[in-house]
Amino acid sequence: MRLGVNIDHIATLRQARRGLEPDPVHAVGIVERAGADGLVCHLREDRRHIQDRDLRLIRELVTTHLNLEMAATEEMVRIALDAAPDMVTLVPERREEVTTEGGLNLKSGGEELARQIRVLRNHGLVVSVFIDPDLDQVREAKRLGAQFVELHTGDYSQQRGEEELEQAAERIREAAIAARRFGLRVSAGHGLNYHNVARIAAMPEIEELNIGHSILARAVFTGVERAVQDMLQAIGR
Ligand code: PXP
Repeated sequence: MRLGVNIDHIATLRQARRGLEPDPVHAVGIVERAGADGLVCHLREDRRHIQDRDLRLIRELVTTHLNLEMAATEEMVRIALDAAPDMVTLVPERREEVTTEGGLNLKSGGEELARQIRVLRNHGLVVSVFIDPDLDQVREAKRLGAQFVELHTGDYSQQRGEEELEQAAERIREAAIAARRFGLRVSAGHGLNYHNVARIAAMPEIEELNIGHSILARAVFTGVERAVQDMLQAIGR
């Protein structure tokens, strides 16, 4: 199982002050040295966290695998062709949402989406589509020409009871099995954390997990002690 680390939240913290730190670009080497298999970032249309400059520098620095999440718009396709990430993940985007709330509805995207996927693939990019674990969406992903599906684990990660968790996991498992039958490769992500990841990580059809929030949330607390000590030293204590 490969791990892609989403570093958007580092940029979110920087944008809180519209300043220079923390710079998500600095995370690239740290994440790779820690053993992750790749980095993920989402260049949103409203540029609320990752900026165009971040993407350019991250692309230069990543030596493992860079997965660019983006909306399927003309602007983003142009940026992706220019930046040349290793993979593009097409996601739905709504300005008012706090995070990506659901998977793409591939049925409504239709032929325009197929054309964008074709353009990206013709330039050598691997294309993934972020979809809910739904068999119709998996079928549509195949028809539109995607190579990967990323299964949305948001619903699974919201469940609390054991039975509900298992049912939500079963939907992901069935979608992953169907995708593999269609010859699609499968990744998964959204809302995965240290407690709920094991059940998803155990699914052999899924080859990669993309995780951001829980890793960076933990990093705040594993790093805060040292940060306080460094400031005490800076003020001469
Ligand atoms: N995969 C996709 C397509 C996403 O949009 C996100 C969130 O940016 C993630 C994975 C990671 O989700 P989380 O930050 O909840 O781990």
